[in-house]
Amino acid sequence: MTPAQPNSTDTDYRLSRHDQNVKAMFGNISRWYDFLNHFLSLGMDFYWRKRLVSEVQTGSNRRILDLAAGTLDVCKKLSENFPDHYIHAADLSAKMLIHGLKKDTRGRIIPVCADAKTLPFAENSFDCITISFGIRNVLPRSLAYSEILRILTPGGKLCILEFGSGRQKIWGGIYNFYLSRVLPCLGKIISRDKSAYSYLASTIRNFPGPEEIKEELREAGFSNTGYKGINSGIVFLHTAHKSDAPPKINQ
Ligand SMILES: C[S@@+](CC[C@H](N)C(=O)[O-])C[C@H]1O[C@@H](n2cnc3c(N)ncnc32)[C@H](O)[C@@H]1O
Repeated sequence: MTPAQPNSTDTDYRLSRHDQNVKAMFGNISRWYDFLNHFLSLGMDFYWRKRLVSEVQTGSNRRILDLAAGTLDVCKKLSENFPDHYIHAADLSAKMLIHGLKKDTRGRIIPVCADAKTLPFAENSFDCITISFGIRNVLPRSLAYSEILRILTPGGKLCILEFGSGRQKIWGGIYNFYLSRVLPCLGKIISRDKSAYSYLASTIRNFPGPEEIKEELREAGFSNTGYKGINSGIVFLHTAHKSDAPPKINQ
């Protein structure tokens, strides 16, 4: 990844070097992000996000948070499916959020620039938290998991949509060839960002498989962890709950 610079702001000093780079990179490609998403996934991303939103469960406080919300496609769908809920969107990149706010979101989305590892929300705020293609960028994931547990209501649900590990051969290796060779070239030509789409391919290749993510979530303190593969395991939908039992106190 190229070092951060073009989109750095005076609050960036709080972010790690990795987060500054990720923020700058998404800021640089924000204009092209939606088009490339639909084009490079051959339109499958619409279906993937629909599946994510169909997993959402809410409760009495009617608040849902979409983390790493980007250009707000998930929030838009949430606001259509849950018209009487408050939909919050958090992302590192203001540029991504600003592009999203140009969409017809009916003024129902509450955006905030925030790092998934230090979220500006009170304990027990949300019935459900979604993350679509965001967790792969967060390092270390354990800090995001503990923030999510803190702000979920007891019994609340976390739904993560993420690529599977690109190391597993899919469709006889056609998908893997597409991921390593075709996607970075097309992404570079269209977005004119040399590194963004090689970064995408390499984060997918380095991302753990679904069993490992399930175990990570369990170790972080979630209960009822599970996952479903979609499109032969190109993506996975992970779900986990915050226990509604009061925490045990060691005496
Ligand atoms: C691949 S995009 C996904 C955007 C959107 N969720 C979607 O489905 O299209 C990843 C997003 O994660 C955001 N992001 C990366 N690291 C983050 C972090 N630590 N905290 C919050 N957002 C982060 C990026 O700014 C970017 O908008």
